[in-house]
Amino acid sequence: MSKMMILILAIMLVGIASTMTLQSCNDNTYVQGARLYTFHCANCHMEDGSGLENVIPSIIESKYFGAKLDSLPCLIRHGKANLTTSHSMMVDMPVNYQMTEYEINNVINHIFVTWYPDREAVTIQDTKKNLKDCPVPAMRYGQ
Ligand code: HEC
Repeated sequence: MSKMMILILAIMLVGIASTMTLQSCNDNTYVQGARLYTFHCANCHMEDGSGLENVIPSIIESKYFGAKLDSLPCLIRHGKANLTTSHSMMVDMPVNYQMTEYEINNVINHIFVTWYPDREAVTIQDTKKNLKDCPVPAMRYGQ
C-alpha cells in the first residue's frame, strides 16, 4: 500500500471515530452544554469563564448565577446593551437566536457544573418559564 493510501485510510478512520463520539455525546446534556459554551460563549467570556479585563465581564462570579438567575435565559437569548456596567469599552452582549430553550438550559447547567458546583441544576421547565416573558430590547445587533 502506498504511503498516500495509508494516509487517506487514517484520515477516514479518524473521521468515523469522531462522528461516533459526537453521536454518543448527544445523549449527555452536560457534554452538549460544554460544546455549546465553547461555540457560543468562549470567544468572549474565554474558555475558563474569566472574561476579558475591562471589556467582557467574568461569568465565574456573576449575579446571573445567583440572585438574577431567573433573568439569565433572557440575557443569553436577547443579549444586553452595555449601559450599566463598569467596564470601559462599549461592548454589548449580542443576541443569540440560534440556541433552542433546551440548549440554553444545557449551557447554563454546564456553567453551573464547571464554576458553581454547589448550585442545583436548572430544569427545562424553569428555563422555558423564564424565557416566556423576556423584556425584548427595542434595538439589538444580531448574529
Ligand atoms: C460577542 C461577545 C459575547 C458573547 C459571544 C457572549 N457574551 Fe456574555 N457578555 C458579553 C458582554 C460585553 C457582557 C456585558 C454586557 C453588559 O453588562 O452591558 C456580557 C455579559 C454576560 C453575563 C452577565 C455578567 C455580569 O455579571 O454582568 C453573563 C452571565 C453572560 N454574558 C453569559 C454569556 C453566555 C452564557 C454566553 C454564551 C451563550 C455569552 N455570554 C456570549 C459579551 C459576550
